[in-house]
Amino acid sequence: MRLDKYLADMNAGTRKELKTAIRKGLVTVNGQVIRDAGFHVTGNETISLDGEEIGYQAFEYYMLNKPAGVISATEDRRHRTVLDLLGDRRRRDLFPVGRLDIDTTGLLLITNDGALAHRLLAPKHHVDKVYRAAVTGTVTESDIRAFAEGLRLEDGLTAMPAELRLLEVRQNSAETVSFVEVTIREGKFHQVKRMFEAVGKKVLTLQRISMGPLVLDRSLPEGEARPLTEEEIKALLSLS
Ligand code: URA
Repeated sequence: MRLDKYLADMNAGTRKELKTAIRKGLVTVNGQVIRDAGFHVTGNETISLDGEEIGYQAFEYYMLNKPAGVISATEDRRHRTVLDLLGDRRRRDLFPVGRLDIDTTGLLLITNDGALAHRLLAPKHHVDKVYRAAVTGTVTESDIRAFAEGLRLEDGLTAMPAELRLLEVRQNSAETVSFVEVTIREGKFHQVKRMFEAVGKKVLTLQRISMGPLVLDRSLPEGEARPLTEEEIKALLSLS
């Protein structure tokens, strides 16, 4: 990769600033001043800017409490993305682990650890994801059984068995709404919404509260992110 791009990816500055710094002789690669922004680097070199070593740091892990209205992508022309919410901590190698729909809120892990992301997302690893939802109508025992048995979705595919727990039913003159907790082990597109559609109900709000051992921090306001604690990282990395 080009030297200026590498440094920009490391958040060392804008491409323009970095080109200038390189031209001024402020950048060294393996101890040698390099004045060519197009100089080829692999990332295995020791690269310094103004005497400070810049490198691919150890992996980073953030918990984001995703608000509605932002999309789970690294860039988008029309909408704010979950990475925009990281502010200064944003780096180009960070990405969200899996996707939440634009209107889904709650726990989203953002990292640059591709191997961990793969482990969390690969269907064969069956990592539990727990959601809280408000859905139209009254959730019945037969819905709970249907979820437990594995529902057939509208595309003909079967969802793996899921646990559905009814927390509360609220009724007013206009409508009945059930508040539920759903645990799924896979992450098909719109999975929870489509499972409820399959039993004739519509999801009104959806919030993810956990993913494997990682639980949404209740003190983290919507729209904010914080680095994972050592314990949280350890728990994730010890997933088999
Ligand atoms: N299931 C959905 O339907 N949407 C999400 O965002 C996550 C799970």
